Amino acid sequence: MNRIGVLTAGGDTPALNATLHGVVARANELRIEVFGLLKGYHSLLTNPVPYLRLNPLFQPIPELDPTYGGSILGSSRAYVDSNDQNVVDGIVERLEKLSVNGLICIGGDGTLNAMAALAEHFPTVLAPKTIDNDLGLNYRSEPTEWKKNQQNGAYSRTRIVNHMNLDDMINYVTPGYATAVFVSAQGVQRIRTTAESHRRVAIIEVMGRQSGYLALGSAYGQPDLILVPEHPLRQEALVQKIKDIYDVQKNVVIVISEGIVDDAGTILGNMNPTKDPSGNIVYNGAAESLKQILVRDLGDEYFINQREHDSASDAIFTRKVGHTQRGGRPILFDRFYASQLGGKSIDMLLEGWRNGIAVLQHTSEEGFALDSIDANMLRDPWGEIHPRYMHASFYDVGRFQPSEIGIQYLKPIFSNAIGADDVETIRSQLFDSSHLTQPYSSVNVDIRKRTHYLELP
Ligand code: F6P
Repeated sequence: MNRIGVLTAGGDTPALNATLHGVVARANELRIEVFGLLKGYHSLLTNPVPYLRLNPLFQPIPELDPTYGGSILGSSRAYVDSNDQNVVDGIVERLEKLSVNGLICIGGDGTLNAMAALAEHFPTVLAPKTIDNDLGLNYRSEPTEWKKNQQNGAYSRTRIVNHMNLDDMINYVTPGYATAVFVSAQGVQRIRTTAESHRRVAIIEVMGRQSGYLALGSAYGQPDLILVPEHPLRQEALVQKIKDIYDVQKNVVIVISEGIVDDAGTILGNMNPTKDPSGNIVYNGAAESLKQILVRDLGDEYFINQREHDSASDAIFTRKVGHTQRGGRPILFDRFYASQLGGKSIDMLLEGWRNGIAVLQHTSEEGFALDSIDANMLRDPWGEIHPRYMHASFYDVGRFQPSEIGIQYLKPIFSNAIGADDVETIRSQLFDSSHLTQPYSSVNVDIRKRTHYLELP
């Protein structure tokens, strides 16, 4: 193998460039050329195909900075229908014309589906990324818990394993998650002091789609209550809990996961859910929707009697952490393991893996270690890959907080997640006075100068 292609697909994360850096560092040792394909699968669906050399003369290009968030290759949610033979053949033809004999896709579950079709033609490996931490399994037999309704194709699930062993997890954690939690936890701490000073109830919405891992991790910011999608909203219990806390401390901070559902399984706030090009639901309005519920159930009287606010609507406010969770400098944990997984992906290609995934395992005895799995391990009996839900046991329903095992899950990831340089970078760089005089210099401008276009007839 002397030349491989690499792309970054799906929503960006802070650790993509770190993974690319790991790919290139290992490729340089093995004297393999790396072609970067721009904007995820989009590059392979268009003519001409935009690409750049990431390691000319086996040196990384200077724009490839592992401490810089996002992806210098760009990313997109361009969707490849793996059942559309014309589309797949077109992609294969383009990669063959580039003389690429292996492909690394840095992405999540959506990326894997397209990769499977390409795996029939050359070695392919997925290097995982997602801030949602929803790529992997809580335990090996998890895909067998899904049932498909043959009439309407809808999936339902019966959880069989109720008490899981953390050592059994497949892909314990995914690059991007730690930095997203870092941002969310800080967001919670910052909102807290406003809620405290103004005697308010703050509802902070975090990302994560159907999966509550991000909300769970935000516990590091010490919110009073956390709401995750794996446990439907228990309105009455929540309202009572808010009153109990507000009565004592005159402020409440609630973290709500964007994918939270009610008792009937309906997503809060998403009356007419739209979908992105890859078919993912676009979540919208969970925090606002919860605010409406609390305004109604707590009522103006409650806040007037407390002599704090004229109305419930004044007292309750919402904030989204939003895309700041996904952007910016990756913290040490993400940088280190993203880069390791990038290098591991190259080794897997050389071992001939087709449709393989480089994964990060963790055991209580050995700590973190890299491993390889076949992507089919994640598929249910009908071939579908489902996002990994946070295991229900990670959450204490009564306390609205991480459970004992949830805490055990988080500790290995976050105990040493922040490096001294992460802190030093803020100290030395944020208030650099040149920021006031120099315009922002986008890496895209330099990448454009390096971009080649493969013309196809
Ligand atoms: O999957 C990552 C994710 O950040 C989700 O947590 C979120 O729902 C979604 O992407 C947002 O996507 P977009 O950037 O397209 O708004």
